[in-house]
Amino acid sequence: MKSIKKYLVAGCAILASAQLSFANEQIVIQTDSLGMVLTVGDNGRLYQSYFGKRLVNPADYANLTGGTEVYLTNGMEDYFEPALHINHSDGNASTLLKYRNHKVSSIPGGKETVITLSDPVYGDEVRLRYKSYDKENVFVSSTEIINGGNKPVEIEKYASSMLHFDAPEYYLTEYSGEWAAEVKPHTQPLYYGKKEVDTKLGTRANMFVSPFFQLGIGAPAQEDSGDVLVGTLAWTGNFRFCFEVDNRGKLRVISGINPYFSRRSLKKGETFATPDFIYTLSSRGNGEASRNLHDWARRYQVKDGLGDRMTLLNNWEATYFDFNQDKLISLIGEAKELGVDMFLLDDGWFANKYPRHSDTQGLGDWDETADKLPDGIGRLTAEAKKQGVKFGLWIEPEMVNPKSELYEKHKDWVITLPNRDEYYFRNQLVLDLANPKVQDYVFGIVDNLMTKYPDIAFFKWDCNSPITNIWSNYEKQDQQRLYVDYVRGLYNVLDRIAAKYPDLPMMLCSGGGGRTDYEGLRYFTEMWPSDNTDPVERLFIQWGYSQVFPTKVQCAHVTTWNRDASVKFRVNTAMMGKLGFDINLHDLSPEELSYCKQSVKDYNSLKPVILDGDQYRLVSPHSGNHAATAFVSKNRDKCVLFAFDVYPRYDEKLTDVRLKGLDPSAIYRVEEINRFDGSKGEVKTYSGDYLMKVGIPVFSTGKLSSRVYLLTKV
Ligand code: DGJ
Repeated sequence: MKSIKKYLVAGCAILASAQLSFANEQIVIQTDSLGMVLTVGDNGRLYQSYFGKRLVNPADYANLTGGTEVYLTNGMEDYFEPALHINHSDGNASTLLKYRNHKVSSIPGGKETVITLSDPVYGDEVRLRYKSYDKENVFVSSTEIINGGNKPVEIEKYASSMLHFDAPEYYLTEYSGEWAAEVKPHTQPLYYGKKEVDTKLGTRANMFVSPFFQLGIGAPAQEDSGDVLVGTLAWTGNFRFCFEVDNRGKLRVISGINPYFSRRSLKKGETFATPDFIYTLSSRGNGEASRNLHDWARRYQVKDGLGDRMTLLNNWEATYFDFNQDKLISLIGEAKELGVDMFLLDDGWFANKYPRHSDTQGLGDWDETADKLPDGIGRLTAEAKKQGVKFGLWIEPEMVNPKSELYEKHKDWVITLPNRDEYYFRNQLVLDLANPKVQDYVFGIVDNLMTKYPDIAFFKWDCNSPITNIWSNYEKQDQQRLYVDYVRGLYNVLDRIAAKYPDLPMMLCSGGGGRTDYEGLRYFTEMWPSDNTDPVERLFIQWGYSQVFPTKVQCAHVTTWNRDASVKFRVNTAMMGKLGFDINLHDLSPEELSYCKQSVKDYNSLKPVILDGDQYRLVSPHSGNHAATAFVSKNRDKCVLFAFDVYPRYDEKLTDVRLKGLDPSAIYRVEEINRFDGSKGEVKTYSGDYLMKVGIPVFSTGKLSSRVYLLTKV
């Protein structure tokens, strides 16, 4: 490549006109610590010349030339997986993209660089969007594909992002599992060929694998060392990450909607916009990458990301479907007694022809069951108001049971094959949200409830069935549109809810952690990571999600799963998330109840640090018999440290835990708080330097025991 003609730094708006020669022009996209360099080649194509640490001397970027084509297309010289595959109406499946222009503008917290490429033969246009967030060192990439020709085209593959790496070795960590066993990390080296992490479950898309990954570049990433790319797709549906190592040992990472059964035709002039791929690169391991994403998410992505969260009492595990009005009224009283902010009524409150007494019927009929709730939801919101707690309600609006009035009336709204037996997952079927009439109906569920009962303060939005036996009456002519149109239909409904009820908090739930993605979290204040609330399992599950999601969005409830674990152990695990209870208070001893009440108070005072501070994963539950996590306030004047002994061995050697993220020059008062018997813990003082270099003993050889420490700057 020739010497650099122009050097363009993101920050000033630049619009280059199409008739100039752009060869060797550079686009530099930077954050406080990262730099990405894209260069136009002599042939007019755009190359990724660099993605790594920001260079101190801007002139050095001129030395970075060449690289791999930034958004590789099908049908040309490349031998490997393309980011884009367009089928033209003449049967030609090739696309060639040349640089046309780019534009840089300011967005809150950073810049957006939009690069336009086009095919000189067919006129197709591709717009690559890169949002770069300075302080958080987060990039958000998406792509628009425009049919700029005169005939319709078909897009077969349409990635949100393609990134290139050239290192001796690559190590991929994926987070996969099952219902109640979500986010188990598995790390594997990548060699020649492809590894795909994908899903085609549609609605409950993340049931088996989470939409995020960590990629150790050169070596497996550690908590505090190693180069690592952490990426996640913001899409509440089928996703695919494709990692392909080529014959020269170069790696391409292609992220986007799963192209499986999702070919789309684009009319002349039509645009297809992909979802966002969100990523950060750290040279200091997974911990820093997580904190980058947590900060970014709270500031720029999650609904009410900087706002407070409500503690709650949920009735699901206390009652399942077996309740009536009196029972619920007494539970609202228990929520008050416990001191939580809200009572949440879960499944089982609706339907009359086929009352929802179990999961076999009723979904779709959203009127209160008259003999369970003779005075309706209004009686419950009134009681909650009287008691001074908020009222939340469970819904599963995208689904229908075949035993329901909705199904009897609108079988045409159901996703199911017309000429085969129906297949049920949890006795239910998915409604066809591609259909605008179904979108109206689903919006109407929330809207009607809110209109009738404006005191509803929260929804838990569940989604228990994946899409199977795929067929849409609405998409009759083009079934391949359904997976994508479904998600867009869902967003349409959620946009309407957000517009009409902008301050309504909602939990994203999907039979446990079946939906855990950042686009969903634009509409939901929090998510339900797993139905597994065994506190030992939760140490692992919450550890897994914390790689990408802040504590603030991870609901964690105290239940009776694992009765071997003390109430304190269960509460302490749940305090490392958005605390809730899903337990019958009468099952607790007076001492346990008084400990829970004290814990709610403790949590309320610690919440700003736990939910909005920096999370440091100190001792991994994967590494042995203990686990520890600390949350440090942004100004470093407070730290909450949680320590757990799971199943220690007899006379095991215990190691002190070294803190992270403190002010080394400050003195901290360290006190064990939240003790079961309410007694005060011993107070000691240490410098931040000592706490981080030497550490303190926080573990014991007691099975299933836990402690919470508060560190306060003196
Ligand atoms: C699945 C959810 O994950 C649970 O928390 C509960 O709401 C049930 N559905 C209710 O059917």
